[in-house]
Amino acid sequence: MRTVLITGTTSGIGYALSELFAKKECHVILVSRNAMKLSAQKQKLENGNNRIDTITCDLEQTNAAEIIYKSIKQNGWQVDILVNNAGFNEAGLFSETDATCEQGMINLHINFVTDMMKLFIPEMIQNSHGHILNVGSTGSYIACPKDAVYAASKAYILHLSKAVHAELKGTGVTVTTLCPGSTRTEFAHKAKIEHTLLFKIFVMSPHKVALSGLRAMEKGKSVIIPGLYNKILVLCSRLLPYSFIGWMTKKML
Ligand SMILES: NC(=O)c1ccc[n+]([C@@H]2O[C@H](COP(=O)([O-])OP(=O)(O)OC[C@H]3O[C@@H](n4cnc5c(N)ncnc54)[C@H](OP(=O)(O)O)[C@@H]3O)[C@@H](O)[C@H]2O)c1
Repeated sequence: MRTVLITGTTSGIGYALSELFAKKECHVILVSRNAMKLSAQKQKLENGNNRIDTITCDLEQTNAAEIIYKSIKQNGWQVDILVNNAGFNEAGLFSETDATCEQGMINLHINFVTDMMKLFIPEMIQNSHGHILNVGSTGSYIACPKDAVYAASKAYILHLSKAVHAELKGTGVTVTTLCPGSTRTEFAHKAKIEHTLLFKIFVMSPHKVALSGLRAMEKGKSVIIPGLYNKILVLCSRLLPYSFIGWMTKKML
C-alpha cells in the first residue's frame, strides 16, 4: 500500500486529491490545521480498503516541516508520495496588503515546501522511488499586479520544483508542479477575490484539477497546467509584451 502525505486537505484541490488517493487504496496522511475538519474527513474517506491518518499542524510556523517529519518517523511510516498543496492568497496592492499575512504565506509557500522536500527526498532517492506533487499556479508564470507576493511565491515553487526534477533524473524520484488557474474552491472567497473577472470565466472544478495533477505525477511529468484556457493564458504570458500582460492581470483582479 502506497503512503501519501497531502497538506491542506480540508477543502478544495487538497480535498479532491485526498478522495482520489483514498479510492486508490492508499495509506493517506491528511495534514491541515483544523482538527475537527480532519477527523470528519478521515471518517468520510475510510472505506475498508485504505488507511487514513491525520496530522494537525499550522504549516505557517517556522518548524512545521520538522514537526511533520518527526511525527511520520515516530509512527514508523515511509512516505512514497508527498503532495505540497496547502496555500492561500492575500490579494491587493502591495502597499496595502497585510505584511504579517504575507510573511505567513512566504513561510507556507516557500520555506515549508523547501523544508519538506529537503527532508523527504533523500529517503526517496535511497529507495529509488518517490513522487512529489507541488501545487503552483498559472500565477507562477506571471508577475501579477495586485497579487505580487502570492505570484512571486508560486514562481518560487515552480522554479524550485523544475530544477530539482531535472537533478533527480534517473533516480526514480520525480517532482511535478501542478499549475491551476481559477478553481472553484474556498480560495477566492478567503482572499476576497471571488467577484473579480478572474473567477468569473473558465473556472475549473477542483476534481478536474486534482485528476490532471495526479495523472501528470504518475507519469513523472515536470509540469502540468490543467485546462486549455489556462494553457493558452500561460502561452500568451510568454509571447506577449509584459506591458500588456501586466495591464490585463490588473484588470482581471
Ligand atoms: N483555487 C484557485 O483558484 C487556485 C488557483 C491556483 C492555485 N491554487 C493553489 O491551490 C492550492 C489549494 O488551494 P484551494 O484552491 O484548494 O484553496 P482552499 O479551498 O482554501 O484550500 C486550501 C487548504 O489549505 C489549508 N491551509 C491553508 N493555510 C494553511 C496553514 N497555514 N496550515 C495548514 N493548512 C493550511 C486550508 O486549511 P484551512 O481551511 O484551515 O485554511 C485548506 O485545507 C493552494 O496552494 C493554492 O495556492 C488555487
